[in-house]
Amino acid sequence: MSVILLAWYDANAREMPWRTSPQARKDGVLPDPYTIWMSEIMLQQTTVVTVKDYFTRFINRWPTVRDLAAAQDADVMAEWAGLGYYARARNLLKCARAIVEEYDGVFPADHAALLTLPGIGPYTAAAVSSIAFDLPHAVLDGNVERVMARLYDIHTPLPAAKPELMEHAKALTPQQRSGDYAQAVMDLGATICTPKSPACGICPWRDPCAARAAGTMAELPKKTPK
Ligand code: ADE
Repeated sequence: MSVILLAWYDANAREMPWRTSPQARKDGVLPDPYTIWMSEIMLQQTTVVTVKDYFTRFINRWPTVRDLAAAQDADVMAEWAGLGYYARARNLLKCARAIVEEYDGVFPADHAALLTLPGIGPYTAAAVSSIAFDLPHAVLDGNVERVMARLYDIHTPLPAAKPELMEHAKALTPQQRSGDYAQAVMDLGATICTPKSPACGICPWRDPCAARAAGTMAELPKKTPK
């Protein structure tokens, strides 16, 4: 399963300023954890299109976690203006300073250690571990939830379905190229397995997809009414 998706990703990965080039991916070159952490914090409540420019400005102004840790709080808040959810910016600074003070400026390649840092929850810890360190941790964001619910035709409504969806996401995560795989599932959800009118005809997982076989794609994932 993961091999099919990785082949699709090799041909269709979206270009993003924090992603390594296709050649670097082939060579197994991993991205800088600082840039992956920065992008994942920004992407939490903000779209890829909006994040791109903010990300580039932040990385140009503060190229390393040490530079960011030494920044004035007001400068960081001003640069964040427009992204919203300002607690993220305050935690960004706290986390940068913790990395410098507790880890000598080096991001820990360890899911449990990442989880103890300010602003890093289960999603971000899994994203950084997999994308920056190629550790086999499963990411479960809204896109991945939708892909899993359809692939396994799960009708339990969200959020109750989350543990079950996470089990499937974990079982599918490969030991090799875990970071590319994590980004491949997110890209699949964002570009093919979309909420409305999914493009099943060109989906690399159309054959194993249980919802496609049952014709239930459009109903999934179910949501508990508010
Ligand atoms: N959404 C959040 N993180 C992402 C990533 N690394 N690639 C694609 N979509 C994302």
